[in-house]
Amino acid sequence: MTKDNDLQTKRLAPTPAAIAEAAAVLKRGGLVAFPTETVYGLGADAENPAAVRAMFAAKGRPSDHPVIVHLAAADQLSEFVARLPEEGQTLARTFWPGPMTLVLNRGTRINHMVTGGLETVGIRIPNHPVAQALLRAFGGALAAPSANRFGRVSATQADHVLEELTGGVEIVLDGGDCDVGLESTIIDLSSDEPAILRPGAVTREQVEAALARPLAEPRHSPRVSGSLPSHYAPRAIVELVPANELADRAQALANNAQRVAVLTSYELPKHPNVVAISLPDNDNELARVLYASLRRVDALHCDVALVCLPDERGLGRAIADRLRRAAGPR
Ligand code: TXA
Ligand code: MG
Repeated sequence: MTKDNDLQTKRLAPTPAAIAEAAAVLKRGGLVAFPTETVYGLGADAENPAAVRAMFAAKGRPSDHPVIVHLAAADQLSEFVARLPEEGQTLARTFWPGPMTLVLNRGTRINHMVTGGLETVGIRIPNHPVAQALLRAFGGALAAPSANRFGRVSATQADHVLEELTGGVEIVLDGGDCDVGLESTIIDLSSDEPAILRPGAVTREQVEAALARPLAEPRHSPRVSGSLPSHYAPRAIVELVPANELADRAQALANNAQRVAVLTSYELPKHPNVVAISLPDNDNELARVLYASLRRVDALHCDVALVCLPDERGLGRAIADRLRRAAGPR
């Protein structure tokens, strides 16, 4: 592959023929975007450095950021990780295939391109049927970051991938809307003290129950792109506002000639400069539509988006985490 934006991008329904075609593209070093239960991934052969380099270029991502390596099943782990500690085995049995990534000491089949030079590797075994079919047809490991331009909101529909990566990827397998809607929970097991690096649909409460012990406080790694202060951000400024101040804050901004989007499950008084983007108040449904809603803010050409944080329990922690990053300093 030569430069960015020079490819014909095909959107394909995930038929057996399309899966076979996508696997062939991956085997010759091409890029394929595919649905997972969390968000769409931008897949490249993890063992082909040229393919991984093309993937970084398509995303516009700095090459020292590690990417998650995806496998079809845990019985393929052996040469990809140095070892799976006992607590890792418990988590793998409980939550794989599913929305969980384990950071482990890397094995011999993992190169520095995918770890960004780290001695650890993030491994995920997704349960989406299209991701599973593609991984099985391909047969190896797929390096797959979220299928969005670096720093932007992850893609939860094939349309979102096409908006950002047309010309940078050969095939987008269209599996409809992602079920979870937020990126996987990342758990670091590379030291004795497991720690959640990124909250997700496998919740802290579930991990603590599986391990039968409380977890250390969240650890922040500067190398985790999802832990940069501003990430998962739309173009509009995002402000976090307490629910009882939403209407007033929207008025104040709108009176100041700002075009305001209010993301809320509440009814708001009408104002010509304010658009309401209705959010469900159930956390599972909210997670599913959150990124599409943030994209809508930009599609509606709003300057500012106002949103309230959910209660920080269970999946609410992951939603709050992504909203804080969307609202982070740019
Ligand atoms: O749900 C997901 O995890 C999606 C789907 C496609 O699987 N993938 C995803 O990948 O969100 P990405 O590259 O956008 O985010 C992966 C995060 C990054 O923040 C990266 O820094 C972190 O995982 N990561 C990967 N390997 C790591 C490692 N060895 N140590 C610490 N963090 C790591
Ligand atoms: Mg990402």
